[in-house]
Amino acid sequence: MTSKWWRSAVIYQIYPRSFQDSDGDGIGDLEGIARRLDYLAALGVHGIWLSPIFPSPMADFGYDVADYRGIDPRFGSLDDFDALLAAAHARGLRLLLDFVPNHSSSAHPWFVESRSSPNNPKRDWYIWRDAAPDGGPPNNWISDFGGSAWEWDAASEQYYYHAFLPEQPDLNWRNPELRAAMLNVMRFWFDRGVDGLRIDVLWHLIKAADFPDNPPNPNWRPGTGEMDRVIQLHSTDQPEVHEIAAEMRAIADAYGDRVLIGEIYLPVERLMTYYGLERPEVHLPFNFQLIDAPWDARTLAALIADYEAALSPGAWPNWVLGNHDRPRVASRLGEAQARIAAMLLLTLRGTPTIYYGDELGLADTAIPPDRVQDPRELREPGLGLGRDPVRTPMPWDGKTNAGFSAAEPWLPLNADWPERNVARQTRDPGSMLTLYRDLLALRRARAALALGDFASVIGTDDVLAYERRLGEERLLIALNLGGGEQRLALPGWARSLRPLLSARPLDGDLRDGDALVLAPDQGLILGAA
Ligand code: GLC
Repeated sequence: MTSKWWRSAVIYQIYPRSFQDSDGDGIGDLEGIARRLDYLAALGVHGIWLSPIFPSPMADFGYDVADYRGIDPRFGSLDDFDALLAAAHARGLRLLLDFVPNHSSSAHPWFVESRSSPNNPKRDWYIWRDAAPDGGPPNNWISDFGGSAWEWDAASEQYYYHAFLPEQPDLNWRNPELRAAMLNVMRFWFDRGVDGLRIDVLWHLIKAADFPDNPPNPNWRPGTGEMDRVIQLHSTDQPEVHEIAAEMRAIADAYGDRVLIGEIYLPVERLMTYYGLERPEVHLPFNFQLIDAPWDARTLAALIADYEAALSPGAWPNWVLGNHDRPRVASRLGEAQARIAAMLLLTLRGTPTIYYGDELGLADTAIPPDRVQDPRELREPGLGLGRDPVRTPMPWDGKTNAGFSAAEPWLPLNADWPERNVARQTRDPGSMLTLYRDLLALRRARAALALGDFASVIGTDDVLAYERRLGEERLLIALNLGGGEQRLALPGWARSLRPLLSARPLDGDLRDGDALVLAPDQGLILGAA
């Protein structure tokens, strides 16, 4: 009954502040996104996920929600949202929103009430605890953004818990009324027609009921984020979170064809549990492994094989190269290998998510100290934790402010925007954008890429090679992860195949007997012509 459109889909993440401004305030908005839908349709993606667009004081740029059922006026109105959704659907594009259930803004009316008195009916909608006997916080839990995760409220003489900023108090999912209210938020957006939700920090939702201290992390070193001083053993990934994820899934399933993507940073064995052990949970627990993995063929081959092996029958894989929280792939790997990474992302088995701007090879943009916006950087400066560098405006063309806005953008543009922009790259057959378009077109044309089985092919030190197969169709993907020429012994079935797509122009002989010759930084997709 449920359509599985999200299995063959490619999702594109938009950071709304930075995609396209339409009203000249230097901040992107919904009307701006609507104007760029044709670009996304031509790129060839199937769905877009918008980071939060709800009313918010923007302490964490929208991940502090003050009204779960509205649109922040900076981004537009509910009417603008409905228009955007209709315009996306008219182009065959699905639209996913970002659901932030772990915490609200401290400006949310629920928290204002909860804070007003220990006897308020909404007191228990958040996590309030008495001080420790010495007057300090109830336990040693540390905020992901540094400092104690407990904030003292002098008026009501208790601490409240915030896994992130003090302006982001955690909601108490053990309270049935809160739970019902939040699940109704999902229904609100599904009723409006959204095709899915990305669920923010899903593994954080439930904390150990008795709030024991977290164990110290013996591997923590000063100069790295304070959050890692302790291991988040009791503050995250508690067994009861799975009940909630299953309830969320039941709601999505009641609407037929909606997808749930869970943001979960956990080791693979733990990640897998969010597909659901007893009952189905999220369709896609985000798989972030490619973001952190050392970029060498052996490591990646093992990582892919282990992930594939860990999936239970029916669990559909997914892959991510970057997002609004992590360094961009072009900065991590350099431009030549970012092209190989694009080929990997779009040829592995599973649903890929593309982060806006990665299709241009955007790198992290250095942010002058007086323009820093991200609270993560402001709270723990100089550790390289700030996320502004990966959230800079989309460079569209060579006009004022790269066509992003008539006004000075909220964050600086990438320094190379006069060359690195959509208009330029559209015309350049050798650009990253052309590579992404070609890859997306090939995925649409060859079902084996979108839906086929995966099998690893043994390569040499620098070569990652694998097969995608659906029925009669067999494709071989061979990626050179190094700067030297490589040879790959072709299996018999692949010897008659021809290149369908390459990461760099083809020059010289591709074959040396039964071996495939891979130029430095070359990637090839071979198939029957
Ligand atoms: C998620 C978001 C991140 C945000 C945090 C708190 O990790 O991706 O941007 O700061 O949750 O909501």
